[in-house]
Amino acid sequence: MDTKAPEGKLGVLIPGLGAVSTTFIAGVDAIIKGQTAPIGSLTQMGTIRLGKRTENRNPKIKEFVRLADLTDMVFGAWDIFEDNGYQAAARAQVLTPQDLERAKAALEIVKPMKAVFDQEYVKNLDGPHKKSAANKMLLAEMLMEDIKTFRTTKQTTREVMVWCASTEVYIEASEVHSTLEKFEAGLVNNSPEIAPSMIYAYAALKCGVPFFNGAPNLTVDIPAIMELAKQTGMPIAGKDFKTGQTLIKTILAPGLKSRMLGVRGWFSTNILGNRDGEVLDDPMSFKTKEVSKKGALDYILQPDVYPDLYTDLYHKVRINYYPPRGDEKEGWDNIDIFGWMGYKMQIKIDFLCRDSILAAPIVLDLVLFADLALRHNMRGIQEWLSFYFKSPMVAPELYPEHDIFIQLTKLKNTLRWMMGEELITHLGQEYYDSYE
Ligand SMILES: NC(=O)c1ccc[n+]([C@@H]2O[C@H](COP(=O)([O-])OP(=O)(O)OC[C@H]3O[C@@H](n4cnc5c(N)ncnc54)[C@H](O)[C@@H]3O)[C@@H](O)[C@H]2O)c1
Repeated sequence: MDTKAPEGKLGVLIPGLGAVSTTFIAGVDAIIKGQTAPIGSLTQMGTIRLGKRTENRNPKIKEFVRLADLTDMVFGAWDIFEDNGYQAAARAQVLTPQDLERAKAALEIVKPMKAVFDQEYVKNLDGPHKKSAANKMLLAEMLMEDIKTFRTTKQTTREVMVWCASTEVYIEASEVHSTLEKFEAGLVNNSPEIAPSMIYAYAALKCGVPFFNGAPNLTVDIPAIMELAKQTGMPIAGKDFKTGQTLIKTILAPGLKSRMLGVRGWFSTNILGNRDGEVLDDPMSFKTKEVSKKGALDYILQPDVYPDLYTDLYHKVRINYYPPRGDEKEGWDNIDIFGWMGYKMQIKIDFLCRDSILAAPIVLDLVLFADLALRHNMRGIQEWLSFYFKSPMVAPELYPEHDIFIQLTKLKNTLRWMMGEELITHLGQEYYDSYE
């Protein structure tokens, strides 16, 4: 199947003009101006091996699959606050004053559209810049109007939407999410089980815009939206950007398992003081995050397959809102492991990270890969992008793959498959055949 060329402007539509999205926009601007290298971005810095190791073919990913150029990206956003991108970035306090000033022009032009918001879904936050309508279907239609206006004024040839807004409270899929028909009736009847993020997703897919979810909310992980994605031929993916602690977890756990070392307990705690931390201070929003963060270990370590090593593993995750720390989160892990003859050992990790600095390149890669998937007519769940998510979406009959190394292999093999290149199995037996 051919991939359409990335011609014209790519619209990047973002619900949530906060720490992550403004850091992303400022970084793209700095990269375009040559002020920084695109550090942390696989699409920009990563290479992909093609053919045999003796062939020395290692093109950059962005050249191999023809991704959109950063200079072709134009941004649009929604938020419950009226602050433009520059004001929002200043408030988020991620960037140094110098970096903020350098990106002022690029940030300032992003003026958020009125949000679809419901405080039932984000308890610790409220703002004045919101749409109001008699029902949720009308709100969806207003978002569709926003998208169409953006398309005409910015003259984009295609768009992608990435959810960078606050984490919504924990809900499970229910009847209204089970089919598209019931979901649409629910929109009209103002069903309380339809979250604002689902309304954005519905509007995006209806307008021919892929939707990727950077937060742990249910959002597109429901049969109704999956049905809509199939029907409209749109890619969807989620959930929850894999940044700080879970990134480290999915790097370390596969290594411990590969050497058949046991794990008795894994205690993870965080302090952070940004607005995301404030929202997560509400137990119902935290629950959404907790569920998203806790899945990884079970899937990687497979206690059912390795009962001697991982049965009864005690896994605890804590997030503590601590304003003095701002975006500069600290994540501690204490891991109780055991080895030969059952002898106990411990690993301690203290990751002094920066949340939005880790998340921004993920947004960039997802924007570019969402556009690639769109141009390659790949509809529905994009499991090959699991690499970027804490809680990857998969087909209902599958379990998610969390091991970051398997995820990377899957991603790169998908790119090879798209371009008609041989898949790489790492067998390598052919290099030795001549000695027989
Ligand atoms: N930074 C990370 O490492 C990381 C990792 C994984 C996931 N995330 C998720 O990404 C999201 C953004 O994180 P952040 O640090 O930028 O948070 P933030 O609080 O700085 O920004 C979120 C913005 O979304 C706005 N908002 C809330 N509800 C909205 C709605 N319905 N429509 C439009 N705007 C809305 C808020 O007003 C705020 O400006 C959060 O859900 C967070 O959990 C972040």
